[in-house]
Order: sequence, then C-alpha cells, then structure tokens
Amino acid sequence: MSQKPITSDTADDRTTARLTDAQATKQKKLDQIKAAILAQNICPELAKTAHHMVFGEGNPDADIVFIGEAPGKNEDEQGRPFIGAAGKFLNEMLEGIGLARADVYITSILKYRPPNNRDPLPDEKKAFLPFLQAQLEVIRPKVVVTLGRHSTNCFLPDLQISKIHGQAKRIKISMKQRADDVLTLVILPLFHPAAALYNGGLRQTLIDDFANIPHVIDTINQGSK
Ligand code: URA
Repeated sequence: MSQKPITSDTADDRTTARLTDAQATKQKKLDQIKAAILAQNICPELAKTAHHMVFGEGNPDADIVFIGEAPGKNEDEQGRPFIGAAGKFLNEMLEGIGLARADVYITSILKYRPPNNRDPLPDEKKAFLPFLQAQLEVIRPKVVVTLGRHSTNCFLPDLQISKIHGQAKRIKISMKQRADDVLTLVILPLFHPAAALYNGGLRQTLIDDFANIPHVIDTINQGSK
C-alpha cells in the first residue's frame, strides 16, 4: 500500500508513469467509475452548469481518503478537488503529519459544482453515493476522513459532526460490486476546512483532530496484526 510516486485520477498529464502494479490496477478501475458517471448522465442539471467533473485525485492505493462535499469555483474551473483556500489549508495540515497530497486520495460526494456553491441537495448526494462507494471499494483505504457534515452524514447519518469530530467509527456497508460481501470502513469525521478556515475555534479543533490521524492509523494497524 501507499508506495510513492503517485498519480491522479485520469489519463491526463497529471497521470504520469511509474505506478506500482496495485496502483495501476486500481487507477484503471477508478477511470471506469468516472466513465460510468458520464455514461449514466448522473445529475444532468449539475453537469450542464459545471465546467469540469471533479472526480478525485491522488494515490489510488492510498491508506487515507478525504471526502469533501462538492467542488467549488476553483475546483470546477480546473477539474481538481480542494485547490482553493480550503485546499491550501488541507495541504498545510497534510504537511503537518508528514504527507503530501499525492500520498492520499481526495474526492467529494458530488462530482459537479452546485450552482453558486449552494448546499448539495439530498437527491444529488443520493445519486453520487454509489459512485463514491465504488471509489472506496477500489481504493480500500485504512481510514476515510469525512470533511464536514454532508460527507460525515453519508456514512454516519444520525450523528452530529460537532459532537463526534475526531472520533473514529468503524462501519460495515454492503459492497456494490460484490453484493455478498461487506466493506468495513473506519470513518474519521472532521470539520470541513472551509468552515474552519476563518473560525479560530473550529480551526484549532480541526488542526488538533487532523494531527491525530497518524495515531488512528497506528491503532488500526495494531488491531490488524
Ligand atoms: N470543498 C469540497 O467539499 N470539495 C472540494 O473539492 C473543494 C471544496
């Protein structure tokens, strides 16, 4: 798992060679999921107003997957997740735990920007959720870090981010690709960096929760020995 150097999500110029076999196999499957979103014309109204799909990028064999809410203006313009102010903050926090973006995988629930950055609608989240789950079934990360309440409530529907941030929870969900199998995920809910960026209290809480990610992974590794 998680060997460098890394890649992004599509066969464009960010996807350069030198993938491990595991990364290449997973990347191919991720590309197929992206193609399925287009082929099935998911959320056509959003697709119409968006400039690019923002499917996700990073290490297809990552230990950590970050899931945001939906692309914003910058992400829509460039087709890459978390590249605006919130993304810069995310990059800084990653550096703080000794990781680069290329070590992890970053995506969002919605793959298209909602007009005027409005909140994702329940039907839109529902439409994209199977594809998000398919991404997780391919990557099989050790930890899924949900950023903000929308992302957290996709996996932990009845819990409030303000109460459970920083607390890892293990969940089991039925696999989409192999219905007889279950996917076990460790969900770590954190505040969304955009919400925390300009709110001093939330900001420090997010930084502290984030700094705990290596400990969460150590605990998982010890449990799996
Ligand atoms: N916020 C998100 O949830 N996702 C992005 O890609 C950018 C900002």
